[in-house]
Amino acid sequence: MSITSKLPHIGTTIFTIMSRMATEEGAINLSQGFPGFGADPVLLELAGKYIREGYNQYPPMAGIPGLRQRLAEKTQLTQGYFPDPEKEVTIVSGATEALFAAVAAVVRLGDEVIVLEPAYDSYEPAITLNGGIPIYVSVNSGDFSVDWEKVKAAISPKTRVIMVNSPHNPSGFVWSSEDVDHLAELVRDREIYVISDEVYEHITFDGRKHISLGSHPELREKTFVCGSFGKTFHVTGWKIGYCIAPVDMTSEFRKIHQYLTFTTVTPIQYALAEYLEDPVRYLSIPEFYQSKRDLFAKGLAETQLKFTPSAGSFFQLASYGHLSQISDQELAEKMTRKLKVACIPISVFYSDKRDDKIIRFCFAKADQELLEALERLKELPRVL
Ligand SMILES: Cc1ncc(COP(=O)(O)O)c(C=O)c1O
Repeated sequence: MSITSKLPHIGTTIFTIMSRMATEEGAINLSQGFPGFGADPVLLELAGKYIREGYNQYPPMAGIPGLRQRLAEKTQLTQGYFPDPEKEVTIVSGATEALFAAVAAVVRLGDEVIVLEPAYDSYEPAITLNGGIPIYVSVNSGDFSVDWEKVKAAISPKTRVIMVNSPHNPSGFVWSSEDVDHLAELVRDREIYVISDEVYEHITFDGRKHISLGSHPELREKTFVCGSFGKTFHVTGWKIGYCIAPVDMTSEFRKIHQYLTFTTVTPIQYALAEYLEDPVRYLSIPEFYQSKRDLFAKGLAETQLKFTPSAGSFFQLASYGHLSQISDQELAEKMTRKLKVACIPISVFYSDKRDDKIIRFCFAKADQELLEALERLKELPRVL
């Protein structure tokens, strides 16, 4: 028997490939988006405490009440609205699950889903597996801002969802309040849902503030806000995230969630609930990453790569088209093998694999590791 694949064009993700190559080559891994440093020992201690104290059986399907309450309070503090912890907040196994379940909740066979690209790689399979059709709209090349006229032109009677992501992976672009208003205007009076990937909500720079789509009263009525505690608290392997959405949307979302994973690891939920009691723990995240962004940008300026400092997320893009015309995939491979620094070619974030000669670095790494990588990047012309 052979399986007729539902995802024939999907192979192993570039993140796995580059991380594997980095390990084989003993390279500094600035490719995959995970922190290279540990989480706050207080959080780790709390996780251990709840495991030892026996919080190890199934928790409630939607997440423990304490964590949903703390998340609602965090949302009030940072975004100015208080979602109902009982009916509008669901704890899930990572933002990836939230995104998938949100798509599954609303996308029907033949529905169109507008995806702004470059886009994170889990969106397309989620849409396809649920019978939807991704309609790609590229953001502006150069600054990666959204071309709202292009988004408007892509809307058809079949559009069911618009999927968006700010702060953006891979570009670091952060939406302004005008962007949020543009989106609100586009979906006004239309039966279109929004799935908002906000996993980098706490990583913004130079005084920028992340604006959750949930904070916009009109958009709140149509949006699944998807977040990730893993990204915020440097524990990506814990795979724990959340979805905030209006009551009726949450109710459909939970129907999917309860048969996808049912719930999420119990002791970690208790640990996070206690950890979130002190807002400083998330309010201090931008400052923590700002120093890494600054350090990385300073060093990158001494290389021959061109870049604009990232506005948010823990990624920095850099272009090399003025140095060489080799493909971004080839460059990423050469850099890993010869310079021993791994990065991600950003053509993989485009549906047509368009190659603008741009690579992505993850700077969520120990300062020493970043400094060493930057030293090696000065040698780039040698490997081209
Ligand atoms: C834009 C974006 N969305 C979602 C995720 C996945 O988040 P999680 O690990 O919580 O599933 C990532 C992880 O890299 C991401 O970059």
